[in-house]
Amino acid sequence: MTDLNALIAALPKAELHLHLEGSLEPEQLMHFAERNQVDIPFETLEDVKAAYNFSNLQDFLDIYYQGMSVLLTEADFHDLTDAYLQRCQADNVRHVEVFFDPQGHTERGLPFSTPINGILSALDAAERKYGITYKLIMCFLRHLSEADAFETLAQADPYLDRIHGVGLDSSELGHPPSKFAKVFATAREKGLKLVAHAGEEGPPEYVYEALDILQIDRIDHGNRLLEDDALIARVREADLTLTVCPLSNLSLCVVDDLKDHPMKKMLDLGLRATMNSDDPAYFGGYVNENYRQTAMAVNLTRDDIITLAKNSFTGSFLSTDDQAEHLKEIDKVAAAFV
Ligand code: ADE
Ligand code: ZN
Repeated sequence: MTDLNALIAALPKAELHLHLEGSLEPEQLMHFAERNQVDIPFETLEDVKAAYNFSNLQDFLDIYYQGMSVLLTEADFHDLTDAYLQRCQADNVRHVEVFFDPQGHTERGLPFSTPINGILSALDAAERKYGITYKLIMCFLRHLSEADAFETLAQADPYLDRIHGVGLDSSELGHPPSKFAKVFATAREKGLKLVAHAGEEGPPEYVYEALDILQIDRIDHGNRLLEDDALIARVREADLTLTVCPLSNLSLCVVDDLKDHPMKKMLDLGLRATMNSDDPAYFGGYVNENYRQTAMAVNLTRDDIITLAKNSFTGSFLSTDDQAEHLKEIDKVAAAFV
């Protein structure tokens, strides 16, 4: 395992499923609350950490939306994003495709410009400071209406040259992809990439809807597509990437034990699965920690780990030339770990 951990650390990787608001560490939450004089229902760091104990997605989301209420200024979003990118540098993550939830902020009265300006300034600085490249994906909250999503898309209009795609997140059950058919069609017409959380808690039918109706370019999570053989074959034949998040799945009880996690099965089926942290401050680990714990739990091999690192680039929205550069680097590192 030590050798595998050294390989995990050394491999260049991309992260394709990360909610910036989910990288808000308990210490930062306390810090921003104090800096901005925001009341939070926690007295101590221990109180915050004790609240991070979830039995399903909704349980988590309630805390997640409460947590992000301490973010008020561009500087807060900049600092949050920069702290995440420092973790990326430490984990040798060379490219990120990060989500943010504008409606989580505009709903509580912030202008659209506050989160996006803070996030973009940190992402641009990281490209210079750490050499980490990025794409920014704006998610629509699926528990809100499609009209609200359209309003958010309109607010994003002045920034569309800086936003690479749209996604769909928040409470999955009861909010199928078809609810957002029109706004995804409009986003597609604007040239944006399309992704959606599907099959995290929702049934295979939601994955079908994401493919057939939203026509997404990438599936976030996708665990429950494994319940349907025809869907497995379709996703494999279409070379669709799955952004899988094992420690998230464990925290939100999508799996009861990491040993039951389907990551190995996905790879063995020939699906293009990738390893991601989702909301690392809430789920106990960033990218390398997801690799390490999953490798141990489901016996990933050296080749599985190399495949996952390669998938993170081939599944990214980077150009094929840029992907090729990273793949060459992976081969070089892998050669030192035979
Ligand atoms: N928002 C942040 N993390 C999420 C997840 N794992 N599923 C759905 N929405 C989310
Ligand atoms: Zn997610």
